[in-house]
Amino acid sequence: MAGQFWKPGSAKPRLIDDEDGGVLFYSTTPSSSSSYVNLEKERQRLPVYKYREAILYLVETHSTSIIVGETGSGKTTQIPQYLKEAGWADGGRVIACTQPRRLAVQSVAARVAEEMGVTLGEEVGYTIRFEDVTNPDLTRIKFLTDGVLLREMMDDPLLSKYSVIMVDEAHERSLATDILLGLLKKIQRRRPELRLIIASATIEAKSMAEFFHIRKRRPQLEGEDHGPQTEPAILSVEGRAFNVQIFYIEEPVSDYLRATVSTVMSIHNKESMGDILVFLTGQDDIDAAVQLITDEAQNSGKSSLGMIVLPLYSGLTRADQDLIFSPSPRGKRKVVISTNIAETSLTLEGIVYVVDSGFSKQRFYNPITDIENLVVAPISKASARQRAGRAGRVRPGKCYRLYTEDYFVNEMSAHGIPEMQRSNLASSVIQLKALGIDNILGFDWPSSPSPEAMVRALEVLYSLGVLDDDAKLTSPVGFQVAEIPLDPMVSKMIIASDQLGCSEEIITVSAILSVQSIWISVKGQKELDEAKMRFAAAEGDHVTFLNVYKGFLQSNRSSKWCHQNSINYHAMKKVIEVRQQLRRVAQRLGLALKSCENDMQALRKAVTAGFFANACRLEPYSHNGTYKTLRGSQEVYIHPSSVLFRVNPKWVIYNSLVSTDRQYMRNVISIDPSWLREAAPHFYQQQPLNLNRH
Ligand code: CDP
Ligand code: MG
Repeated sequence: MAGQFWKPGSAKPRLIDDEDGGVLFYSTTPSSSSSYVNLEKERQRLPVYKYREAILYLVETHSTSIIVGETGSGKTTQIPQYLKEAGWADGGRVIACTQPRRLAVQSVAARVAEEMGVTLGEEVGYTIRFEDVTNPDLTRIKFLTDGVLLREMMDDPLLSKYSVIMVDEAHERSLATDILLGLLKKIQRRRPELRLIIASATIEAKSMAEFFHIRKRRPQLEGEDHGPQTEPAILSVEGRAFNVQIFYIEEPVSDYLRATVSTVMSIHNKESMGDILVFLTGQDDIDAAVQLITDEAQNSGKSSLGMIVLPLYSGLTRADQDLIFSPSPRGKRKVVISTNIAETSLTLEGIVYVVDSGFSKQRFYNPITDIENLVVAPISKASARQRAGRAGRVRPGKCYRLYTEDYFVNEMSAHGIPEMQRSNLASSVIQLKALGIDNILGFDWPSSPSPEAMVRALEVLYSLGVLDDDAKLTSPVGFQVAEIPLDPMVSKMIIASDQLGCSEEIITVSAILSVQSIWISVKGQKELDEAKMRFAAAEGDHVTFLNVYKGFLQSNRSSKWCHQNSINYHAMKKVIEVRQQLRRVAQRLGLALKSCENDMQALRKAVTAGFFANACRLEPYSHNGTYKTLRGSQEVYIHPSSVLFRVNPKWVIYNSLVSTDRQYMRNVISIDPSWLREAAPHFYQQQPLNLNRH
């Protein structure tokens, strides 16, 4: 590989000396047996075990306890068990533990069930969107995403079945976590007996404590039963630690993917045994890196023998997850290539080397252009430290940062921006409205969203017919949209499909949009492109999805058929499941389940009814496929993964945007511009000319 990339070993090893004087870690022996006795011993070795009594005392005596502890110290897997052992799940009550990420929910729930020696889905269960592995009579410890807990509030506003709610990974400041914290604070006023635990790896504990500090309303009377203290308690869990040496690249790299590959190869060839954890940004660059490293290893002959290269991102099957967590076979080195899920949500044993690209995929929303997209953006110093920390679990480790020391010290921001301040707020506004919170601007946010973003959300919801002139949920559409556990635009599309007579097809499309991707590159990009062409529809990706779905049913849901057609079998199975659940939701809402057979115009109109805000027009005389969004006149392009790439119809609607060198539209369908005004007269009334030109 080209010499422009720095090679570990060519730079002088240096221990970074940031505020905390190097990153310190503790060690445990990797899990070697799943027998109960061994697991019990492993549990007692975790740093959090020493704090068991302290944690239980704090929870007993305080409404809110904030627990800070390094990743891997045992917060997520142990604290819910301690609570159960101490009786917090007696009398039919339930202990909840929330996570921002679905994969983390599944993985920790499985681990806790194993440690307790119970069947997952009975005493220990989990719920993520479209997947409920709990038993209402038996489940006492329940892991769930923060988004699912928010949804549960719609049926049970005081979350009355829970005795303790542990909001985990609070440092991530995900949108749903922040809204949840605001709502839990309200619930606590009505339910003083409810206990909250806020757990995180690197929280700014003081600001959280201030947020939860509820001032006493009147002086206390002597002899009065005051209940738990309302001032939050803060506990910091400390662990035994190993040093992690930090290496920086000497010159900035232009291609972090190639730099990653050459760094991994170099570690593998020069360094002693120990697993490697690589942080990239998403499924696309992770799959590419897996491929490149595998090729490179094979070309270099002997070195391919000792490597097992595994991807880690959401949407992995159980079997793939198990591979990630199982110890490397003797003499083999595991190379796990991950999104930032392995930063703090999941702990992998046996990692000795970390390669940090310095990037992650982040959501960014611009209220001026009304564009939200996923951007590959630089991480913060806090994230960089967390990533480095993953190298020191079994023995002293090494972290290779693919950016310069100067960049780290002088340019990287200290902390990330809470998701709340870089998201489209439409979903959150609907949820708060559905929970009866009318004064959204006055809501007690842990950090306030921008007024512009709020106004934009209200405007889009008004155009979708979800809110009325008084900004109240409309009946029935507003309430229906709130009931469907999907983005409001998708929900609106489903509701509109009722009248257009294509709900069966739209539900299929919605189910497919809810999984990461139904395509999978088995043999290479060329095969994948050819497979896509076999299903491609002139109308666009949504209709193409329907063709794939029909083919899958005709094949009798065959995995072989999927393999032959570069289709992800597991994703298709998930689509079938999600589809069934959405049909049930639709029936509950009184929508008719009808098929439009081959009338694709009805389907495209339904898509327009939900996604009119994402309409774009091809620039007149554009030779390179430049589109402009109708609303903000932003330049966008059709993503190469779309079947409309290079077809470039005049008018299109996209499902989402991703941004790399340009803004790319993903999942695109062609439309007739007259449908826009039909679907959203208010939204497009200011631009009458725009629609008629061209
Ligand atoms: O939440 P925190 O980061 O503090 O730690 P944890 O997730 O509770 O992890 C405690 C221990 O359980 C670590 O040693 C993990 O490697 C282990 N664990 C595991 O082996 N398999 C899982 N699916 C989850 C955790
Ligand atoms: Mg955790």
